[in-house]
Parts: sequence; C-alpha cells; structure tokens
Amino acid sequence: PNLKMNEHGGSSLTSFNCRAKGGAPGFKVAILGAAGGIGQPLSMLMKINPLVSVLHLYDVVNTPGVTSDISHMDTGAVVRGFLGQNQLEDALTGMDLVIIPAGVPRKPGMTRDDLFNINAGIVKTLCEAIAKRCPKAIVNVISNPVNSTVPIAAEVFKRAGTYDPKRLLGVTMLDVVRANTFVLSCTLPILPAGPKMQAEVLGLDPRDVDVPVVGGHAGITILPLLSQVKPHSSFTTKEIEYLTDRIQNGGTEVVEAKAGAGSATLSMAYAAVKFADACLRALKGEANVIQCAYVDSQVTELPFFASKVRLGRDGVEEFLPLGPLSDYERASLEKAKKELATSVEKGVSFIRK
Ligand code: NAI
Repeated sequence: PNLKMNEHGGSSLTSFNCRAKGGAPGFKVAILGAAGGIGQPLSMLMKINPLVSVLHLYDVVNTPGVTSDISHMDTGAVVRGFLGQNQLEDALTGMDLVIIPAGVPRKPGMTRDDLFNINAGIVKTLCEAIAKRCPKAIVNVISNPVNSTVPIAAEVFKRAGTYDPKRLLGVTMLDVVRANTFVLSCTLPILPAGPKMQAEVLGLDPRDVDVPVVGGHAGITILPLLSQVKPHSSFTTKEIEYLTDRIQNGGTEVVEAKAGAGSATLSMAYAAVKFADACLRALKGEANVIQCAYVDSQVTELPFFASKVRLGRDGVEEFLPLGPLSDYERASLEKAKKELATSVEKGVSFIRK
C-alpha cells in the first residue's frame, strides 16, 4: 500500500473507507495537532463518532502514520492526513468543526501561562488559516493557556473580518468531567465527613451527576459551583474546600504523576470528544444541548468567561445565568475574575501589539 500523501494531502489508503452508515451525510471535522498526546486518542474517538463523515488530521509531524493507523478502523468517517504548514489550508477547507489540541503541554512546576510564548503563536497561525478556509466552522480551542488562546483566536478572526463570537469555544469540559468524578468519588480519605457524602451520592450513575464549572481554565479561575450540584448534595465547608482545590489542581495532579512526560491526554481526549459531540448534535439541530465552555460572554463584565451555554446550529445560542452563588463561590468568583482579566488582556495584546 502507498502511504504517501496524495495530491489533496490525504493518505491514499483512506480512499478504501466508505461514508457514514446508509450514506447519510455527516459533518466534516478537522483536528489540528492530531499526532499529539491528546490528538491521537481524540482522532481515534472522533473516527468512531457516527456524526462525523470526514475527519481531517493535521499536524507538523507524524500524521501519515496516525492517519494510516486510524483509517483501518471499520467505522464510517473518511480519514485524510495533512502534514506540515503547506497542507494546513487544504486540511481546513470546508470543515464544519475544527478542534485545536496543538501546542506544548506542561511539565512539573509549570503553570499553563508558562506555555503562552509557544502556544500563542501556534494558535495564531492555525486561526489565520481557519479564517481563510472555513470561516463558518465551529472552533474548539484546547491549547493552553485557554484563558488567553481563546482571546487570541478572537483577535485573529476580528482582523480577518470573520469573527463570529458564537462559533468560538474554549474547551473547559475536562474541568467539568473532573468535577463530576471527584464529587462522585467515594474515597475522600482526609474528610471526616466523607461517609456522609458517600451516602448522598453513592450508587449514582456518573452520567446523572452535573457540576457546573465556571470562570476559566487555570488554577483559581476554575470555579466549580458545588452549591448547584445535581442531584442536589450539601457539602460541609471542609468538603467544599477539598473538592474545589482538587478540581482546580486536577491538571497538576496528572502533570506530576506523569513526571515530565506531559499533561492530561486520555481524559482530555475523552472530554474533548464529549464536547465536540455536543457541538455536532447542536449543529444537527438537537434541542437543549447545554455545556460549559469558555466563550465571548455576556454573563459577567469580562469579555470572556466560562459558564453554561445552550448550543445550537450556529454555535452558542444562549447564556444560562450563573444562578444563586454561595458566599464561598461569590468570593472565589471575584478572585477568579481578576486573574481572568489579566489572561484575556495578555492574549488580546499578543495580537494587537
Ligand atoms: P503534545 O506535545 O503531546 O501534542 C501536541 C501536538 O501539537 C504535537 O503532535 C505537535 O507536533 C503539534 N503541534 C505543534 N506545533 C504545531 C503547529 N504549529 N500546528 C499543528 N500542530 C502542532 O501535547 P498534548 O499533551 O497533546 O497537549 C496539547 C495542548 O493541549 C497543550 O497546550 C496542553 O496544555 C493542552 N491541554 C488542554 C487541556 C484543556 O483542558 N483545555 C487539558 C490538557 C492539555
């Protein structure tokens, strides 16, 4: 078999794949950074998604191998690989959804902001090409620091005259996934009140647990609203402090456990697919698709903020209100907003300078 990229930048192997079942047209999805730690499992999981008919895998390295490998999965989506910047625009042409996990991840001791210098430039380049080739696509930004890379993407699109705030979404789903998991967890060893929580939530299907996480995607800007957990649970102050800290530092927990080999990739790929699937279901016309995302927002005075949004055919259709906050959450929100404002400004001035 010929593994070389064809004239369209696609692996010739992929021509053996067929369309989604019944020939039903699905959506065209591009993953930028597809050969990375997140990109590979994300690509694999998107190949399984029945709403995807065409899957474009772009990276600056290793896409022929990843594309060849994934294209052998007997699911409907046609997979094409694109390698290097001169194939970037081809990778993006006509896409409905673009997912961006490109860029460097954290090593122990680093904050997400330490990644700014490298990842800001990567996101800028990728978004310039999106503006040219698929300006109407829904864009899911995973590359960190999300608090700054989303404002960077917005500035790039504004410059190109293609900015539609409804279509640009920073992916904070991993914070929600972690919050749901940790709240459900029955092992809170440091908590004397652990057994009480256990009694309240034990036996629940994780899919029934819903913790809104608002603010942003870094440290104290990650604000789980534990007063609004569904099904309703009441926590002691100690439990709230423990859970909030664990959710805010869940990423660092993984970075330290991986000891230099990167940050969360598998749980992130899961979260990214959960979020992308919600975007695709909304694009298809499914009603009542609600997710937390970091977006151009009207919920607070900040230009970008993560909160629950209703997704529709055009992206963000409605901002859900923050709802009643506890005193603890109100105080945490004020701290989060200060840091968020700085991160947004850093992203904006990277493009405007
Ligand atoms: P990785 O280093 O394993 O993979 C990154 C991939 O991006 C590599 O394959 C690399 O070749 C590619 N890349 C680099 N420059 C590129 C360019 N100009 N165009 C296209 N691709 C390019 O990193 P990993 O673990 O996959 O993480 C990726 C990003 O996701 C990091 O910035 C990380 O901080 C972020 N992340 C975000 C999370 C979130 O919740 N939003 C959670 C975990 C990680």
